[in-house]
Amino acid sequence: MADINSVKETIEKLRQEIERHNRLYYIEAKPEISDYDFDRLLEKLIALEKQHPELVTPDSPSQRVGGTITRIFPAVRHSEPMLSLANTYSPAEVEDFYNRVTKLLALEGVYEQEIVAELKFDGVAVSLLYRDGLLVRGATRGDGFQGDDITANIRTIATVPLRLQGKDRSVSEQAGKTVEVRGEVFMRKDDFERLNESRPEEDRFANPRNATAGTLKLQDSSEVANRRMYFVAYWLKGLGDESTEQAERLELLEKLGFYTGGNYRLCRTLDDIGRFIDQWSEKRWKLPFETDGVVLKLNDVRQWEKLGATAKSPRWAIAYKYPAQQAETVLRDVVFQVGRLGTITPVAELEPVRLAGSTVSRSTLHNFDEIERLAVMLHDRVIIEKSGEVIPKVIRVVRDRRPADARPIDIPGTCPECATPLVKPENEVHWYCPNEQDCPAQIRGRILHFASRDAMDIKTLGKALVDQLVDVGIVRDVSDLYFLQEPQLERLERMGRKSAQNLLRALDESREKSYDRLLYALGIRHVGRATARELAKTYSSLDELMHASEEDLSMVPDIGPAIAKSVHDYFSRSSVAKFLEKLRDAGLKLSVSEKSAPVNRNFEGISVIFTGTLERYGRDRASEMVVERGGRIVGSVSKKTGLIVAGKEPGSKLEKARKLGVRVISEEEFEAML
Ligand code: IVH
Repeated sequence: MADINSVKETIEKLRQEIERHNRLYYIEAKPEISDYDFDRLLEKLIALEKQHPELVTPDSPSQRVGGTITRIFPAVRHSEPMLSLANTYSPAEVEDFYNRVTKLLALEGVYEQEIVAELKFDGVAVSLLYRDGLLVRGATRGDGFQGDDITANIRTIATVPLRLQGKDRSVSEQAGKTVEVRGEVFMRKDDFERLNESRPEEDRFANPRNATAGTLKLQDSSEVANRRMYFVAYWLKGLGDESTEQAERLELLEKLGFYTGGNYRLCRTLDDIGRFIDQWSEKRWKLPFETDGVVLKLNDVRQWEKLGATAKSPRWAIAYKYPAQQAETVLRDVVFQVGRLGTITPVAELEPVRLAGSTVSRSTLHNFDEIERLAVMLHDRVIIEKSGEVIPKVIRVVRDRRPADARPIDIPGTCPECATPLVKPENEVHWYCPNEQDCPAQIRGRILHFASRDAMDIKTLGKALVDQLVDVGIVRDVSDLYFLQEPQLERLERMGRKSAQNLLRALDESREKSYDRLLYALGIRHVGRATARELAKTYSSLDELMHASEEDLSMVPDIGPAIAKSVHDYFSRSSVAKFLEKLRDAGLKLSVSEKSAPVNRNFEGISVIFTGTLERYGRDRASEMVVERGGRIVGSVSKKTGLIVAGKEPGSKLEKARKLGVRVISEEEFEAML
């Protein structure tokens, strides 16, 4: 056994090293090591802390990996309202603000003033509380007065210091001292795109802000950790000796370990402000994250209180929003794409045009209703716009310039790929091709999805090859891939022996891909990468998952009724059972592998219900421990329920369980079983 002091030293060094790499990656954007090596460092720290639980501290980077499940986010009141900002859209309005502030200050006898110009980060406002220097709470803005406690999720954000840093550390650590920091949580554009790619098409986020808001409200914090969000700080209170100037407060925030974006500027004149706004109007497209404007704040914080606020926004600050970027172009054609789930999506083919830093030649028209709403015709001149969204959209037709050769867009009544009449489910906006089994577009879509990066990651299986395999008829579903033979492949056009062997090797290797990836690769409606991971945590094999009821499924963290229904429907289809048998024969992983098996399997196959209050553990932790040990948490008592754990003041479930003869145990017995 290593001497405890040297272990302590190793742990401390690892922590510093990890936080240094966090800084390099998230703040300085100059990573020195790969994600893989970073994960190894973190794993090493976690392993050491596991051996020495007494050395775990709340500010250890191991506390950022998540794992806590929060089912309900308790409401919390803000120390003072979290206001929003009045928006302006023109230089004239900025000038109005400037003059208004100048006048008000003159009444106070103040004739010189400075304005801090900051970027407006397009994310979600949160408040962080530090007590004795340690992060104790993170909350959403909510309605401004009351937000939700999302501490477990906030902790996973690498740019949120778990302990305040720098020379002011000692100040912040004075017993009982509470420091509050406010700012914006956001997601980088590339991380956002990656996240969307891992989500089913029908569930994609429209923009990084929506993705951030959705992520902050996830129940499983380890999923939040996966998404690499950022926190940028712009507000500080409670340190006691913070400066009375906003610009200096931003510097102080940096010293305390926060990221401020670093792009603020102290402006002395209206011209300075104008220059800052102009400068960022183009430059902002090069930033890795989205900004929709500039925030102008009076630098002298002492004046803030004097100027006060209206019901919603302060008088000492204002937001200038850049106009949405628009361009005019010509609608050349509309093609109707058939997705892997049969969804028909009209896509506009446009004359290429420059917009907001890139060339646009396609844009989605979403659905048939949208074509009608826009009243757009082929060859029309259209205005496309890029606002918060990453993908530009057609917003209107230039009516008075409708060309002579404009003609109506033919809305198809049948599938463009297989000629099956289209259907529109009630309450949905999309039309579908119902020919799930035989529509070649759907077959190809399913295979491409199966092979995609976040699924089975079979790089050699690209679009052209999938088209060929499906066209010739040797692959009808993904299970066929695993029974392909070299001679069959060699006969394909443009496919030599070498490529055939490469494909077979890649397929062979993909057999080793984890069960949760496979679950995602199946392409079940609404089951994205994250949902697949959640399902795999609760149901460690396809067999278990197949037999789960809709109600059981909806008890899994972050799985709502729509997903539960979709999963249940999928496994209820007779064709699916046969298909899964073929996957089993192909040797794919249909369950969690031994390696990740937890401590013990004492709850293997047992469905468990909790009733009443548990004293030792919260419900969430208790549920988690059951799941880790192979059990399942179910919602309502039936004859199939294996066990009911009765805490203090149990509810009606206990009675029902007794009637049905289900085994009832106390919290002590439950603990013994763990
Ligand atoms: S200051 C009372 N500074 O924009 C002043 N807000 O539309 C509070 N935002 O709720 C906000 N970047 O979520 C401030 N540099 C920045 C900001 C910023 C983004 C957000 C924030 C606020 C919203 C107002």
